[in-house]
Amino acid sequence: MVALSGECLASPQLNTILQDLVLLNSLGVRLVVVFGARPQVNTELTLLGRKSLFEHDLRITDHADLEIIKRIVGSLRHDLEARLSMGTANSPMRNAGIRVSSGNFVVAQPVGVLEGTDYLHTGKVRRIDTQGIARQLADNTIVLLPPLGYSPTGEIFNLALEDVAVRAATECRADKLIWLASPQAITTSQGELIRELAMSEIHSCDVDPGQGALLRSAQKACLGGVERNHIIGFDHEGALLLELFTHDGAGTLVSSHPFEQCRRANIDDVGGILELLQPLEADGTLVKRSRELLETEIAQFTVLERDNRIIACAALYTYPQANVAEVACIVCHPDYRGEQRGQRLLNVLEKSALEQRLTSVFVLTTQTAHWFIEQGFKEQDRSELPQPRQALYNLQRNSKVFIKTLSK
Ligand SMILES: CC(C)(COP(=O)(O)OP(=O)(O)OC[C@H]1O[C@@H](n2cnc3c(N)ncnc32)[C@H](O)[C@@H]1OP(=O)(O)O)[C@@H](O)C(=O)NCCC(=O)NCCS
Repeated sequence: MVALSGECLASPQLNTILQDLVLLNSLGVRLVVVFGARPQVNTELTLLGRKSLFEHDLRITDHADLEIIKRIVGSLRHDLEARLSMGTANSPMRNAGIRVSSGNFVVAQPVGVLEGTDYLHTGKVRRIDTQGIARQLADNTIVLLPPLGYSPTGEIFNLALEDVAVRAATECRADKLIWLASPQAITTSQGELIRELAMSEIHSCDVDPGQGALLRSAQKACLGGVERNHIIGFDHEGALLLELFTHDGAGTLVSSHPFEQCRRANIDDVGGILELLQPLEADGTLVKRSRELLETEIAQFTVLERDNRIIACAALYTYPQANVAEVACIVCHPDYRGEQRGQRLLNVLEKSALEQRLTSVFVLTTQTAHWFIEQGFKEQDRSELPQPRQALYNLQRNSKVFIKTLSK
């Protein structure tokens, strides 16, 4: 589900965005595109010397306004259909034969009278014809939803883009809702890009106050079961494809669950951990582990998972008789180093050791001595290791031994 605001339709990047949508469609991605028309309607009303009244961020649409809105939305719709139909010359999308369908998929009802104000022809979504949409999508047709809906009594209602987008995404059980509704992705009040936000973090996050409404719409969609809401700046060239096809994207991901989580590893993580360890085993930083060994030892591992990908791991092997545990295989993917993930993992392992009433942790390392010293480890003689571990000590590797006494 993609929501294009009226501002996005007026952006010089619109053609690129539409070409990217065409590309996605030709790759078999099922697309429903919702669009808005607020600035276009405002401009037209001003030109005609009319002034719309807004209450609670909703336009009060009288009969004359509705006629203007119908004309503008119709014109935008034709424009979008035409541009989506356009084969892009000198590109692989030439003669792509894109099908677009727009129709009475949105059933509307009047907003009615609120606090004494009659909203007239302003409506809200009553339901979405999900079956009708599903049939079009199954036929690889792009479904285009304008901000207008029809009531079973045959009336037309002016709808808010956000209402149509959230309800359509929720009822169609969209995998994701992509918002191209603001020139930039979500930023802090200081203007720094926020890459991801869990739904539960929205209320406590310091965001640009002008973007609060957009975040609330994304939150509503999350609450409705749309796990991922991508808020992409429509002025950022290529942002749509970057967001969809790179791990960290170019916009803000608002998700139902935290984007990055630390958890105990399970057997499904073996492939991801092997991938993470492989380059370090190849350059000798780590001792090689076979898949079989990793499978048997997987319960010892803790992982950091980000966007369904293992980006860091660490293992804890306990020696209860000696009251100690070994920290091993602590690795963070090179793209994600330097942001205390290593430290976070180590804290989790130390906490787990303490919970098992162990008094210290040790590590054997050849190249990461200083990092461990900074984490409070001290170099010791290998004779300090528990007996079973001394027996396994690899003389050729000549690893240094570091021990940290744990305190509660
Ligand atoms: C060690 C490792 C897990 C740290 O992960 P991380 O998330 O980057 O760690 P942190 O953010 O907590 O710490 C980063 C700091 O440690 C420093 N650091 C990283 N590796 C280091 C090393 N081998 N020796 C000394 N310092 C090191 C970084 O330069 C950075 O310092 P800075 O903050 O002054 O810039 C990560 O660097 C890694 O995966 N290294 C390769 C695997 C490895 O050697 N593992 C140890 C096996 S025993």
